[in-house]
Amino acid sequence: MQKERKVIWRSPSNIAIIKYWGKHGVQLPRNASFSFTLSEAYTDTEIVFKAKTGSDDPTVEQFLFEGEENLKFAEKVIKYIESISSRVPFLDEYSLSISSSNSFPHSSGIASSASSMSALAMGLCDIERILAGREDLDYFKASELARLGSGSASRSVFPIGSVWGLHPKIERSSDIHAIKYDQIHPVFKNYRDDIIIVSEKEKAVSSRAGHALMENNPYADDRFAQANQRLTSLVSILETGDVDAFCKMAEDEALALHGMMMCSNPSYMLMEPATVSIIKAIRSYRKKTRLPICFTLDAGPNVHVLYPETISSEIALFIEDELLPLSNGGKVLKDKVGNGPTKIK
Ligand code: DP6
Repeated sequence: MQKERKVIWRSPSNIAIIKYWGKHGVQLPRNASFSFTLSEAYTDTEIVFKAKTGSDDPTVEQFLFEGEENLKFAEKVIKYIESISSRVPFLDEYSLSISSSNSFPHSSGIASSASSMSALAMGLCDIERILAGREDLDYFKASELARLGSGSASRSVFPIGSVWGLHPKIERSSDIHAIKYDQIHPVFKNYRDDIIIVSEKEKAVSSRAGHALMENNPYADDRFAQANQRLTSLVSILETGDVDAFCKMAEDEALALHGMMMCSNPSYMLMEPATVSIIKAIRSYRKKTRLPICFTLDAGPNVHVLYPETISSEIALFIEDELLPLSNGGKVLKDKVGNGPTKIK
């Protein structure tokens, strides 16, 4: 019997403040983006690896999701592993049994590609490290491999904050992989992100299709330029800890993203009536209380409520009393900025 070894990696989701929306070539971004790495929404991925006994042995022997066979996910993983095999030479000689599970319910409407693809990429790079007898894991390579699975996953590899995409004002920034971005004021380092679930349904238009629709969007070039300019402004907001300017930036970006969807051809909307009601309630609460609470959206109807940890007790009451009644099922997933992937085994 061939010797089996295994690695297990836990990797979190992330929430973009400057949005990646539009790509070209092989998973290259049209503009630079910034996200906070989260901590509570994560994927655990176990990879058991052993030397192939013959050239007919499959590279992916088995894929389990939440402990069960899942054909749709297995196909995706097999296709992904094939697509990266030239960059990961050990895949010619080893077979993998992969098993993956999420900390959040699969049907919660929360995108899992960032956590799942980054957990898989971390595991693969760790195996490469083990087989080469190296000490250090190559995080840039992990980020590159994660990007090839899902663009936003490239940013989940790093703690706290991450930039993906070449930007003239950000040293070492690159389209190929994300980088750790750490010129961040302490107020943001434990920022909260409570996700109000508006819908648990699968999105009518996938992110993949949404990115593709940017190709013929008449506003696309202005949007890409806007995102890059906004990242320049965000850099100083992050450094100085200007939470009010941060609120404006986060909301402007979320609405620009959804504006692009509404201006695509064909046009579409992912916001639901409850999304808009929650947004309005957050804005009027902020006006009334002057507390630095704001929202962002990913490519879906759920609302991410962002605020500093110091006001978390007031905000918990506001969410309970005023936001959850507006949501359709009264569900909230509480998350916060976190420290990136960890090795479980
Ligand atoms: C709106 O990374 O999910 O969340 O590269 O096709 O997998 P693919 O797309 P994906 O797009 C994320 C879009 C976004 C913004 C962001 O995370 O930057």
